[in-house]
Amino acid sequence: TTILVLNGPNLGRLGTREPEVYGSETLADIGAGLAASVPDDVAIDLRQTDDEAELIGWIHEAVDRRVPVVLNPAAFTHYSYALRDAAAQLKRAGVPLVEVHLSNPYTRETFRHTSVISGVATGVIAGFGADSYRLAVDWVLRSRG
Ligand code: DQA
Repeated sequence: TTILVLNGPNLGRLGTREPEVYGSETLADIGAGLAASVPDDVAIDLRQTDDEAELIGWIHEAVDRRVPVVLNPAAFTHYSYALRDAAAQLKRAGVPLVEVHLSNPYTRETFRHTSVISGVATGVIAGFGADSYRLAVDWVLRSRG
């Protein structure tokens, strides 16, 4: 089994980016922690991009390969209808999509209170820092047959 762990814009800056909001772990640290916590037959394919088109391409790949996705859409969460339309294809294909956020967007600025992704996600985990990713991967593993 492979799990795609996809990350949107500015998440490559974790560690130094607003650590009081996002914690001090880098994305590489999070990826290493996930890889260490899953069984041997599970591969964590962690990717990050600042580019909307590239992220959409990865979602298309997940649809075609039927690979479950853990997605932190970062700021695209709040306005990318293109990313939502890509994610809707996962839903139609019956491929799990877990939306994750390090912070709890509802405690923050009003523009973060809207997610255009959540309506096509299987579920959402937010506010637990790097543990949001761990909880999401845990669920994907539990839910596989
Ligand atoms: C985020 C929350 C978003 O509002 C923000 O744009 C991010 C990170 C989070 O993980 O808490 O870049 O998705």
